[in-house]
Amino acid sequence: MTLAPVRACVFDAYGTLFDLGSLTRSVRGELGERAETLMRLWRKRQLELSWLPLRPGVRADFWRVTDEALEFAMDKMGLDDRGLRLRLMEGWLSPELYPEAAEALARLRRLGFPLAILSNGSLPMLKSALELPGIRDNIDAVLSAQSVGRFKPDPLVYQLATTHFGMAPESVCFVSGNAWDVSGAAAYGYQVVWINRDNVPAEKLPLGTRATVANLAELPAILGG
Ligand code: LAC
Repeated sequence: MTLAPVRACVFDAYGTLFDLGSLTRSVRGELGERAETLMRLWRKRQLELSWLPLRPGVRADFWRVTDEALEFAMDKMGLDDRGLRLRLMEGWLSPELYPEAAEALARLRRLGFPLAILSNGSLPMLKSALELPGIRDNIDAVLSAQSVGRFKPDPLVYQLATTHFGMAPESVCFVSGNAWDVSGAAAYGYQVVWINRDNVPAEKLPLGTRATVANLAELPAILGG
């Protein structure tokens, strides 16, 4: 699988550049093995809520969806701890980058690609992530689904990056570690690279990927670096 020439790279945020495992690690001391279960339930519910049709007049707000999903996951596990809930939510404001992310982004930048983040994350969530050195120094634009009041995989959200760069979708390489996002981005027309970190079996979704890699460090090579 190879990519046709591209002129810009756009990245999903959580699970692609930002390691949600850092949230799990932050509470493993107090929750032990339950930390993994809580995170799995939380992320699953968060995504399920984001895929629901929005009621008329309601705008997408990922912070709210994330908080409601955490409440659900904690209730389900019988956890009633306001401090824990606040700390876990704050984790989204200071996520850790995957270890290879900063260097991979810097290499892509040196190859001349403008780089953007396109995320369902709300603007305040993404603003603090932007302050991380590996991001601040390499990313040209941070685009939030909040600005159109919808969530990916709505094409209106994917369109934010083509509008920003003034490019056709096929001129853009979209990179995501989330299979549903890969599928949505490919349907929009991007050339999509799937980061399959856990080496899970090939998805049964109609992904439409141009390439699959194990981590971000492999990207520059497939983009001509
Ligand atoms: C993002 C989440 C949904 O858009 O991964 O960043």
